[in-house]
Amino acid sequence: ASRIPLVAGNWKMNFDHLEATYFVQKLVWLLRDAHFDYKRCEIALMPSFTSIRSVQVLVEADNLNIRYGAQSVSVTTQGAFTGDVSADMLAALGCTYVIVGHSERRKYHPEDDANIVDQVRAVLAAGMRPILCVGESYEERRQGIELDFAVGQVHDVTRDLSSDQAAKLVIAYEPVWAIGTGMVATPQTAQDAAKAIRDDLAATFDQDVAQTVRILYGGSVSSANAVELIGEPDVDGFLIGGAALDADELARIARLT
Ligand code: G3H
Repeated sequence: ASRIPLVAGNWKMNFDHLEATYFVQKLVWLLRDAHFDYKRCEIALMPSFTSIRSVQVLVEADNLNIRYGAQSVSVTTQGAFTGDVSADMLAALGCTYVIVGHSERRKYHPEDDANIVDQVRAVLAAGMRPILCVGESYEERRQGIELDFAVGQVHDVTRDLSSDQAAKLVIAYEPVWAIGTGMVATPQTAQDAAKAIRDDLAATFDQDVAQTVRILYGGSVSSANAVELIGEPDVDGFLIGGAALDADELARIARLT
């Protein structure tokens, strides 16, 4: 497909701004050393709010081809919302992406479907791209409803969007049972979910939108399984947690993607 793969590292609640600076310098050095082609595969880092500015300074100073973003965003634009960070604030820091609806946010924060739709709208309105996370738990997989579940989570968001908005989405299929467990989905499982999501986009919008949206796989991705997974026609890259905390491993995955 003509979609450029995306390797996105979700640092979750790891790395202060000094560690983030060190990591980016090391990653860029490793990629330079390997003559990495940034036009072939896009790389994005998702630091904590407190580290985004440090990443921005490095990227702007050295004109790096690394993109970056945030792990969540407020649904409101400004005002008396103590502790929240707005989409405009993130856009002002040069963020390209914002992760929305990660299973950890759905679990530990009151992020329901309505809130997730509003986050997606806020990210789009600020000119950034949401990385919308979906995926079933072990229980839903056991019941055999995993595809309906993941597609349903996508549909809950896309039904309120225009095709122009939908075309800007990145979708990450992350089965909850695979996150941080070492139990990576098989390439076929990842492909089946990505295909089901893409078919739903085609049905809701059209083939143009369906073929434009990048669908990532997430859940225990490493350099040992990336090649097989990216070989699937509907898997357009990865959302990586644990392995994205190791610059050598992230550089390796990017080179294999
Ligand atoms: O956002 C990333 C996912 O939660 C995957 O995490 O690679 O540590 O399994 P993991």
